[in-house]
Amino acid sequence: MKLFLDTANIDEVRKALETGLLDGLTTNPSLIAREGKDLTTEVKKMIELFERAGRSDYSISMEVVSQDTAGMLKEAAVYSKVGKGIVVKIPMTAPGMAAVKVLTAKKMKTNVTLVFSANQALLAAKAGATYVSPFIGRIDDIGMNGMELLEEIRTIYENYGYKTEILAASIRSPRQVAQAAMIGCDIATLPYKIFEQLFQHPLTDNGLKKFLEDWDGLKKKIGDHK
Ligand code: E4P
Repeated sequence: MKLFLDTANIDEVRKALETGLLDGLTTNPSLIAREGKDLTTEVKKMIELFERAGRSDYSISMEVVSQDTAGMLKEAAVYSKVGKGIVVKIPMTAPGMAAVKVLTAKKMKTNVTLVFSANQALLAAKAGATYVSPFIGRIDDIGMNGMELLEEIRTIYENYGYKTEILAASIRSPRQVAQAAMIGCDIATLPYKIFEQLFQHPLTDNGLKKFLEDWDGLKKKIGDHK
């Protein structure tokens, strides 16, 4: 399973890359507004970080804000020149899917965002999207079940052999990452806090503390290990 960060914050990208386990990034207009910076400038810095980390297979989603197909295609043309690994993020609307069809024919990568139903995911795959992003946390927020949606999408894509990758988005807890992996999602995009939490377990901390105490005790008894 690939792990992406859902962020526009350069320090978070830098820290996550140090683990060697980060495969890509997703951004959205709200995340970039939170940083208060220019999207293209920040994405260029992020590309540089991935390149410096020796990665060649990363993916960075940049979202269009136009509502009509022509406007989306114009933005996509600009984004495609920002650098390597750029994926154009398009909202799940009828004009959006028309844009995805055109971009797919031009061999450009797309990520269909704001997906909340199995039918929407079916349409994204029919349009040829590279990734589909079901927002599972926002589905849970309204009392529905985000994991059920992921299972439905997995089944539909397997039934028809669609190659579109399922990118579990709007993740709120580490448990959801494991659940999405069990369902067979291809990617999960995570806020930095959740990415950090994936590494942690209180029993790991306690176990490590005890091992180090015992090791120190042994050293005191027999001297330094050779
Ligand atoms: C995905 O691409 C979106 O940017 C994101 O996961 C939305 O998450 P949120 O519901 O926490 O805003």
